[in-house]
Amino acid sequence: MKSSIPSILLLAVHVSIVCAAWGQGEQDFPTFTTLPLPHTQPFDHLLSFDYYHQRCPQLEQIIHKSLQQWIAKDRTIAASLLRLHFHDCFVTGCDASILLNHEGSERRAEESKTLRGFQVIDDIKAEVEKSCPATVSCTDILTAATRDATVLLGGPYWRVPYGRKDSRTSDQKDAETLPTGHESVTTLLELFQSKGLNLVDLVVLSGTYCPNSNNPFSCLLLDELTPDGAIFVCPGAHTIGRTSCSAIQQRVYQGLNGTSGMPNPPIDDRYLDYLQRKCRCASEEYVDLDATTPTTFDSQFYANLERKMGLLSSDQSLYSDSRTSPIVNALIQTPSLFRHQFAVSMVRLANIQVLSGPHEAGEIRTNCNFVNSYQ
Ligand code: HEM
Repeated sequence: MKSSIPSILLLAVHVSIVCAAWGQGEQDFPTFTTLPLPHTQPFDHLLSFDYYHQRCPQLEQIIHKSLQQWIAKDRTIAASLLRLHFHDCFVTGCDASILLNHEGSERRAEESKTLRGFQVIDDIKAEVEKSCPATVSCTDILTAATRDATVLLGGPYWRVPYGRKDSRTSDQKDAETLPTGHESVTTLLELFQSKGLNLVDLVVLSGTYCPNSNNPFSCLLLDELTPDGAIFVCPGAHTIGRTSCSAIQQRVYQGLNGTSGMPNPPIDDRYLDYLQRKCRCASEEYVDLDATTPTTFDSQFYANLERKMGLLSSDQSLYSDSRTSPIVNALIQTPSLFRHQFAVSMVRLANIQVLSGPHEAGEIRTNCNFVNSYQ
C-alpha cells in the first residue's frame, strides 16, 4: 500500500486542478504550469490556446465540420484517430512523424500496419491550406481532430493548446518502442514515465476498473453481471475501436497448437472459444476492443474486463494490478472526475516532446505526407 500513497496525492492534485478548471466552464481551463510534468517542460512557454486566433481563426470550425462528415460515414474512424495521435506522440513526440509516407518511415513500420485515419488528416489539411496556407502544422491538426473525434463519440471536451511543429524526419525503427498489448503493468508504467506521463495517465488513458463505489458518476453499475457484489467500471481509450487478430494471436491460442499453458491473464471460456473461431482463418480479421459498444465512448469495455473479456493482456492486467486500485478508488470518490481526468491526460499526451518556437528543428508541412523540401 505504501507505493500507492504518492499516486493518490498525485491524483488529488489532478482532482483539485480539474475541478477548479471545469467547475466554472470552458474559459477556466487549467493552466498547465500547475500540472506535474516530469521530463517535459511546462508547455505554457511552448504552446498556447490562442496560437491560431489571428493566424487561422476558422481552424477549429474547419476541423470540426470535416470530422462530422467523416464520422457520419464511418464511426470507426474516430477510434483510429485516437490511436494515430497516441502513436504520433509516443514515438519521438507529437510531431506528425507518423504521417510521413516514405520508405523507412514510422508509417511503413510493422507496428503501424493497422493504423488508419491518414486520409482524414489529409482531407482536413487540404481544407485548412485553402484558408490558411502554410500556417497550421499537421500535428496540431491531428491533435484537434482527436479531441473532436472523442467528443463526437460522446467523450469529454477539452481545449487544445496549439503551436506544435512537424518533424522533418521519421524512422521506422523508432516505432519498435510502442507497446503491443503483451506488456506487464510495470513495463507500461516505465514507458509512460519515460514520456513524462504517470500511473494516473496510464490508468485513465487505457482504462481500468473501479471496485465498489457509492458515487458512480461516470461509471457503470454492473449488478447484472456480478450478483455477489456491485462493481463499477470507468472507461479509457480502449472503450472504442478494434484490434486485429494478429495482435491477440498469442493470447488467444495459448495452450493450443503445441504451446503450453493457458492465456494469462485468463479469458472467459466462451469468449475464448468465440475468439479462436473468429481469428482461425485470417490474422487480418478484426475484433472489437469493446464487445458491446465499440463505437461509443462509454463504460462497457470494463464490464468485459470484469468478465475476463479483456482482449489485450495489458488491459486485463491493469484490471488486476494492485497499484491501480487506489487511483481508481480515488477517481470514483469524485463525481465526473474520470471524464475530466481523461481530458487532462489527453492534453498531457499531446504535450510530449513538442517542437515549437522559432529555433526548433520543425516546420509547417504543406502536405502531411512529405517534408516541405520534397514537395
Ligand atoms: C497502455 C498501452 C497501450 C497498449 C499496450 C495498446 C495496445 C493496443 C493494441 C494492441 C491495439 C490493437 C491494434 C491492432 O490490432 O492493430 C490498440 C488499439 C487501440 N488503441 Fe491502444 N494501446 C495502449 C494505449 C493507448 C492509448 C494511450 C490510446 C489513446 C489515448 C489508445 C487508443 C487505442 C484505440 C482507440 C484503439 C483502436 C483503434 C482502431 O479501432 O482503429 N491506446 N491498442
